[in-house]
Amino acid sequence: MKQNIIIIGATSAIAEAVARRYAESGAQLFLVARNNDKLQLIANDLKIRGASAVQTWVMDANDNEAILPMLDAAWNAFNSYDVALIAHGTLPDQARTETDMIYALDQFCTNGDSVIACLTGLAMRFEPQGKGVIAVISSVAGDRGRASNALYGAAKAAINTYASGLRVRLFKSGVHVLLIKPGFVATPMTAKLDLPARLTVTADKVATDIQKAINKRKNVLYTPWFWQWIMLIIRTIPEFLFKKMKL
Ligand SMILES: NC(=O)c1ccc[n+]([C@@H]2O[C@H](COP(=O)([O-])OP(=O)(O)OC[C@H]3O[C@@H](n4cnc5c(N)ncnc54)[C@H](OP(=O)(O)O)[C@@H]3O)[C@@H](O)[C@H]2O)c1
Repeated sequence: MKQNIIIIGATSAIAEAVARRYAESGAQLFLVARNNDKLQLIANDLKIRGASAVQTWVMDANDNEAILPMLDAAWNAFNSYDVALIAHGTLPDQARTETDMIYALDQFCTNGDSVIACLTGLAMRFEPQGKGVIAVISSVAGDRGRASNALYGAAKAAINTYASGLRVRLFKSGVHVLLIKPGFVATPMTAKLDLPARLTVTADKVATDIQKAINKRKNVLYTPWFWQWIMLIIRTIPEFLFKKMKL
């Protein structure tokens, strides 16, 4: 059956890989991003790949007042949605967050507040539908605060907790919430980092896992799967040892 999909942060490499999968099955897509040039390139590509309709909407996710008009446009375009994916985010310069409070709060807003605002808006639309999956990309970084990415991890942890509460709240209405925790993924976000090759996967691999998790109505997805065990170990390291580790 033809599915309707809404993606916020649609120019993200992971989101684009997910969108391709839905396009190939003939879905109708409503794509939201802040960069219209990139958005149009992606929309055209998805039409060629088989999407039965693609509509776009330009929005900076930090503009809270733009979220409800965007949702109005989305529901006017396709009436109801099967899947929503929130994918936008930034990787803050942790060293700068330690001395520049305005920058730190701005980054927290992009990675935390704006995602919670989008989740809230989507829940307002999905709940009356009584169906569908709201999927949100967090990170393994949200599982435990580390010195090297404390600000980013804190924003992701806020999403984790909010998504958990939202899942419980929406359960009775038939709407499902999927929390996605990727490990290292080779995308523009991590292009300048020296990631360990054996632990780093492509956006395509993560997108395959995300689509499967949506279909199976999983609550939490670690992708790739081994991050579930890595993070279990990291979470259980006693604090007196953890604070001495260079992580
Ligand atoms: N790559 C990894 O290793 C990794 C690991 C764990 C979690 N994640 C998470 O995965 C998600 C997708 O990231 P990615 O790896 O696909 O990186 P990416 O390709 O760099 O995508 C990040 C996206 O966020 C968008 N964005 C940033 N600020 C925005 C704002 N204020 N309003 C609207 N859009 C905004 C960017 O838009 P522009 O194109 O306009 O800049 C870009 O499309 C993020 O939430 C990230 O935290 C990534």
